[in-house]
Amino acid sequence: MTEQNKLILKTYCEKIEEQLLDFTKDKNRLQRVILEAMEYSLMAGGKRLRPVLMLEFCRMCGGDVSKYLDIACTIEMIHTFSLVHDDLPCMDNDDYRRGIPSCHKAFSEDIALLAGDALNTLAFEVIANAAMQQRISADKAVMLISVLSHAVGTDGMIGGQVIDLESEGKDISIDTLDVLQGHKTGALIEAACVMGVILGGDFEKIPFAADYASALGRAFQIVDDILDVTGSFEELGKPIGSDNEQNKCTYVSLLGLEESKAIAERLTDEALEHLENFEDNGFLVDLTKNLLERRS
Ligand code: IPE
Ligand code: IPE
Ligand code: MG
Ligand code: MG
Ligand code: MG
Repeated sequence: MTEQNKLILKTYCEKIEEQLLDFTKDKNRLQRVILEAMEYSLMAGGKRLRPVLMLEFCRMCGGDVSKYLDIACTIEMIHTFSLVHDDLPCMDNDDYRRGIPSCHKAFSEDIALLAGDALNTLAFEVIANAAMQQRISADKAVMLISVLSHAVGTDGMIGGQVIDLESEGKDISIDTLDVLQGHKTGALIEAACVMGVILGGDFEKIPFAADYASALGRAFQIVDDILDVTGSFEELGKPIGSDNEQNKCTYVSLLGLEESKAIAERLTDEALEHLENFEDNGFLVDLTKNLLERRS
């Protein structure tokens, strides 16, 4: 990325992290441990890709991003909830996440389960409260809640996780794998982009953002699958070889590394074409290319 775009990304991440800290700051309650667990996983790091996408689509569609930092955090809450649950022993059974012990290792399985649940509901509370405080219109809040809840549910991330679990050890088709990955990873990335357009208020751009996100989401998960084989714990902050250990179906397990890389490149080109529908897209073009080359 150019030095200027690196700085833009850093500034976005700093603002997002400052806002994230605010949600769990009041711990003077009997149930403080759940706030500690939520904060532990939220603040463990991470690329903050989804809130950055939301803010950038908002900006490209004419919105003032400084007004919507709390809404941008809602997609990171949902994403973090999905990771906390994804790492549980009954799911991928991974002991590290974002370079530190997974939530259930640092706390306990029951608290990690509840922390994930609490992050899920907090996201919707934050959107509803923004409307109650008249910082966004009630119409926009309903649209945001509709998009986000659909992306989390049975036809979104959760549905994808179920197909992922049911596909373990099986020889599934590429079409099924596309549905699996489109749901488990694509849905939240698409929600991030579409929510950004809604905040910006240029509703006609929603289909373009969705098309971009669909291609990016697939490329992103293929790169994640590649890194599970070619990356290192130091780079990724999570165990490598986890997919193989759990007999997961991935692009790499079905098509091998080289073909997977070629497909991720093709999908990135497709995503970049869809970005042409947006003015002032320089930062996002740079970020999209960079995600293909990422090592973490
Ligand atoms: C990891 O997502 C899980 C996938 C959907 C591939 P990220 O790679 O965005 O994880 P963080 O947020 O940077 O930790
Ligand atoms: C996870 O996919 C997608 C989620 C919905 C959390 P993975 O299981 O491949 O994610 P990592 O590799 O553990 O981050
Ligand atoms: Mg998983
Ligand atoms: Mg996993
Ligand atoms: Mg993975």
